Parts: sequence; C-alpha cells; structure tokens
Amino acid sequence: SVQNATVVLKPASAQHTINKNIYGHFAEHLGTCIYGGFFVGDTSTVIPHTEGVRNDVIAALKKLKVPVLRWPGGCFADTYHWKDGVGPRSQRPSIVNKWWGGVTEDNSFGTHDFLNMCERIGAEPYLAGNMGSGTVQELIDWVQYVNFDGLSPMSKWRQEHGRVKPWGVKFWGVGNEAWGCGGNMTPEYYANEYRKYATFMTDWNNSDKMFRIASGANSGDYKWTEVLMRDIPHQMLEGVALHHYAVIDWGNKGSSTEFSEQQYMLSMKAAWKMEELVNKHSAIMDKYDPAKKVALVVDEWGGWYAPDPGTNPGFLQQQNTMRDAMIAGMTLNIFNNHADRIRMANLAQTINVLQAVILTNKEKLILTPTFHVMEMYNVHQDATMIPVELKSPDYVLGTEKMPAVSASASKDKFGKTHMSLVNIHPGATQEITVEVDGTNYRQLSGRILASARIQDYNSFDQPEKIRPAPFKGASLKGNKLTVKMPPASVVVLELQ
Ligand code: AHR
Repeated sequence: SVQNATVVLKPASAQHTINKNIYGHFAEHLGTCIYGGFFVGDTSTVIPHTEGVRNDVIAALKKLKVPVLRWPGGCFADTYHWKDGVGPRSQRPSIVNKWWGGVTEDNSFGTHDFLNMCERIGAEPYLAGNMGSGTVQELIDWVQYVNFDGLSPMSKWRQEHGRVKPWGVKFWGVGNEAWGCGGNMTPEYYANEYRKYATFMTDWNNSDKMFRIASGANSGDYKWTEVLMRDIPHQMLEGVALHHYAVIDWGNKGSSTEFSEQQYMLSMKAAWKMEELVNKHSAIMDKYDPAKKVALVVDEWGGWYAPDPGTNPGFLQQQNTMRDAMIAGMTLNIFNNHADRIRMANLAQTINVLQAVILTNKEKLILTPTFHVMEMYNVHQDATMIPVELKSPDYVLGTEKMPAVSASASKDKFGKTHMSLVNIHPGATQEITVEVDGTNYRQLSGRILASARIQDYNSFDQPEKIRPAPFKGASLKGNKLTVKMPPASVVVLELQ
C-alpha cells in the first residue's frame, strides 16, 4: 500500500545546535564488548591491533565519527576500582564481574588503555565514576590522575605508568543507575551523595570546565528527575542522565531475529516512548532551569532482546536487524529535534552487547544496520537543527498504532541541508512531500538503508547484506521535494 506524509522545514526558526555528542556510544565491561570486542590483548598475533585494541575496530569507529565514548559501565562502573587497572599488568588484581555473567577479569584493560584508545578513535572519553561501592577519595584521585598537570601523588603515579601529559577528561558520571544496580538509593539520598561527591571533584583548571552528570531516571521515573533538579545546586550539575531501553516486555523480550510483526510494532512503540519521556523530563527540568543550562544526557538507549541462543545470558549478546535500524533512525530524529535540552546520548553498546554497531567473532568483524544508520546520520553532528513540521500517517496493527514517519533536519557549517527520514511501516511505501520555507535548492542527493524483510541482518557469512545505497527516490522542484520511501527504510538527503 501507499501512504502520504508532509514535512515542512522551517529554516528561519533554526536556533539550536545538534551537539555532536548526541551521537555518542557506550562501552561497558560486559560480555565481549571490551575483552574480545575492543581489546584482544597486546600479545595477539592473529588479530592486527595497536596496543591491544583491534585495528579494524579503530578504523570502523573513526568512520562512524564517534564523538564521545562512555566507560567502564553501566552497572559495572559501581563495582570498578580504577587503581586495580593501572600499572604493570602482571601485578594487577583480578575482578569478578558481579553483574555480567560472574566472569573473572584480569584488569588488563584499564584507564590508560581506554583513554589512549579514545585519542586514537578521536572520541572524547566519558568516565563513569564509582559511587556505589567506591569513595569520594577514590573518585577524586581518578580525576587527579587523568587531569592534573602539576606535581601531585596521582600525577606522579600516572607519569610512572608512562603518561606524561594529562588526558584532560571533561565528562564524568557520578554513579550509574543509583536507583538500582548503583546502590538502590532513593532520589533524596542520591541527591545528597551527589552533592558531596561533586563538591570534591575539580577540573584542576586543566580541561574545559568539568562536566558532571548525575545518575538519571529509569524511563518514566519523573520523581527522580524532579528531586535531582530541586535538591542539587545547579552550579555543581552540568547534566542529568536518563536511561530508556526499547523492550517489549522485561519478562519476555523475544528473539532479536525471529520476531512477528506484532513484536515489531511493540518494539517500535517502546522506542517511540522516548519522545514522551524527553518531553516530560524536559518539562520538569524547565521548571527548575528555564535557561536550559543543565543538559539531559540519555546515556543509555537502544533495543534489548533475549540473548542469542547458546551464548552466556549475562553477556547480553544479540543480533541487529532492520528493526534496530528503525529504532536508531527514529530515536536519533527525536534527539535531534530536542537538541535544545539533549546534549549527549550514548547508544548501548558499541560492540557485541545489546544494540551494537559492531559484532566480532574472533578475527571477523561486521557492521550492523545500526552502524550504517549512525554513519548516515553523522552529517547532523554539530549542525544547526532545522525545526520540522511533520504530518505523518499512522502505522496501525490490530489495536496498536503510532506515526509511520519520523523526520529531522539540520544545516551544516558548509551551508548544506540534511534531512533524515524513517518509514517504520513494514508494509507501506511513503510518498512524502517536503516543503522548505523560503529556500530554493538546486542540488539533491541521498542515501538509503533498506532490505526485503524487517528481520534481515548482517551475519558473518553475509556481512554486507544490508548497507547504504544511493537513493534515487527523491525529486526536487524549487522549494518542493517529493520523496518515495520503501517500507521499513531510512533515508538521509542532502540539499544545496
Ligand atoms: O547496558 C546494560 C545495562 O543496562 C547497564 O549496565 C545498566 O546501566 C543498565 O541497566
């Protein structure tokens, strides 16, 4: 079937920058994200690497333009003692990964490995501090270790371990999911703890102003955001987090590859919930911070399904299909459109865990449909958001319905306009009329990500089954554009 949608771009009302950090990622010590994913150890002779980090991973993440990378968790962060992960590897104690499969890790991937890797990828590091089982002293020692340029016990230690200049880490998480794995705290208790930790965290006049991010709400826990915004003085709070996963049912998440259209619809609705969450959390933040100084940081998001059969269930390993491409395209459009308040987001997680952009199997590596969406969308990074007025038809299945089309647009520093469109409808083509207020474009090009079935994915046998292709379904006449999008597709257009 064919449906019709209209989009009006409003370049005259453009005022907010789409912070590139909205396109951020997250790497936890979980399953094979770090060990086997990023890091193969500096003795691997089979897999080409630089100081233990896979070269193919570095190349792929550079291509993606990963702006910021969060580490070492997640729940793991509140069990992690950073001092166990610096200095000679042979002397490092091991750690049992309590939350994720109970596996023993040797701490061979630590602070130096992560921060040097970020430099290689060109990503800013975002360190998640341990509040749950750590101390104020431990966290402020970490800050001093990575950021202090003068003489101090921690900077001396760093230099002894081979790094002379500090890395200058700007982004710091103060605990993670403090309402759950981070310590099962009440918001009031957490807000007080946060105030104590934040008081002692200092940027040593070295990096850009330190950016502290408070552990945020679980999806629709609005009270959490309310208490944090009310009880934490804003001069010690640069960001408040929010976590939301697209889950059908926590008790019955369903396979990542074998799903019905009903399950697809429920996944889409769970992802689309982000729009409501952002609106409602932002409204609470507006009440306490009308000037929008405090950022909303969605530092965990993505689709979450049952683990791949035969894998350790604590490793959260899942495949990545066109359903995930739809989730990514729609969610990133939501973030772009709320760029006034959302200034960072981190997809969970980069390699081999949840909605991964990369999957590895020994020396093999594949890029998922989600990778391709994030790569197509990276044209929005640091561009000026152009508000869109969208009239979308509904995608209806039984008693469920939601908008079939999602859109966002921006203008980059070279004057190029980009528009990203998603047609989540798995059975309908969209004929979309796009009008641009007051601009006549002369050039149009585009790329599309699509596949025959929403269950399609890239496998180690067919690694390039799904990849972006030139898009020929758009035509331009003055300030009017017509776009014909196949079912379940993502399109990014460039106009000049
Ligand atoms: O991303 C997996 C886990 O999900 C994280 O460790 C935790 O913060 C969240 O519950």
